[in-house]
Amino acid sequence: MRDGEAVGTGRGLGIDADRRAERVRLVEVVGGQTDDCFAEAVRIGLGSMPKWLPCRYFYDTAGSRLFERICDLPEYYLTRIEERLLRTNRREMVERFGTTPVIVELGSGSSRKTRWLLEAACARFGTIEYMPIDVSGPLLKVAAEALTDALAGLRVTALVGDYRAALDLLRKRRECPRLFLFLGSSLGNYERDSAIALLRHIHDASHAGDRLLLGTDLVKDAAILEAAYNDASGLTAQFNKNLLLRINRELGGRFDVGSFIHRAHYDAARSRVEMHLVSRHEQQVRIDKLGMVAAFSEGETIHTENSHKYTITELQELAAGSGFVEELAWTDEAGWYRVQMWRRV
Ligand SMILES: C[S@@+](CC[C@H](N)C(=O)[O-])C[C@H]1O[C@@H](n2cnc3c(N)ncnc32)[C@H](O)[C@@H]1O
Repeated sequence: MRDGEAVGTGRGLGIDADRRAERVRLVEVVGGQTDDCFAEAVRIGLGSMPKWLPCRYFYDTAGSRLFERICDLPEYYLTRIEERLLRTNRREMVERFGTTPVIVELGSGSSRKTRWLLEAACARFGTIEYMPIDVSGPLLKVAAEALTDALAGLRVTALVGDYRAALDLLRKRRECPRLFLFLGSSLGNYERDSAIALLRHIHDASHAGDRLLLGTDLVKDAAILEAAYNDASGLTAQFNKNLLLRINRELGGRFDVGSFIHRAHYDAARSRVEMHLVSRHEQQVRIDKLGMVAAFSEGETIHTENSHKYTITELQELAAGSGFVEELAWTDEAGWYRVQMWRRV
């Protein structure tokens, strides 16, 4: 598969298939989440001390479905508040643009919150091109079809692959202005230096006057944060453990998932919730396709995710450090979550 090659359309999907095919395009970008990348990440991460795995590998089909269910949990306030902020302020968000923007979204998932914004943009400009980027191709396809069915003015070019590879592809294209979206507190998965590097990547793929709408979780009481990642129904635990099941499915792993415990705790010094999988006892786990054995002592963990929480000052420093200025911001009454619009300088 070559970089930027179209791999599928909406063809053959029902009575309006031809019309949908004209409006939905899936494009595979090199650097996507191939089996080899996953194998390499597992080899490196489980061969390290302490052990770790990159959180982007949560999102295979099973993991993406679990994440969608997490978004509806009472404890997981992030989606609920962000969706309310987008719904309430959507017109103001799109009215920043004098001419029709192309809307590019990093880590779009199901695009369920984005729909509000797309609806407002279609109402304001008539026709909108939406370019969601996600490592999960099946999710992108379902989301793109649902959106084009619902919004007559929408065209979708979905980029299947890693953020950086997709941004490199966009850098070569000239259309503007662009509105970049990075929602769901996904920036929080990056350590500060990596967050600035990714924001600079967005900066380099954009032009002066383009904008970035960024959704971020704010520092708050540890009990609220820990409840959000330790829900009573155990869905987040399933989501975390799905990484081990994925290793079993795709790489011939022999993990006994019941011998690991999900743990999420807030590290106030680092302003982040850390997720881990904790080995209940000493064990050795073979991973056939990698020809490796991962040895665990009792209580040893695999670090699977960081979710950084920010202060407003830190967010403004991130903007300044990556070539953006804050133009507008929206926060809920409790001050738990913030959506900000940055302008690229
Ligand atoms: C936390 S979910 C957020 C989904 C959605 N934006 C929301 O707010 O609900 C993160 C999404 O980003 C995607 N993702 C994670 N890392 C990625 C990467 N490096 N490149 C492309 N997509 C990525 C995942 O597949 C997933 O759909």
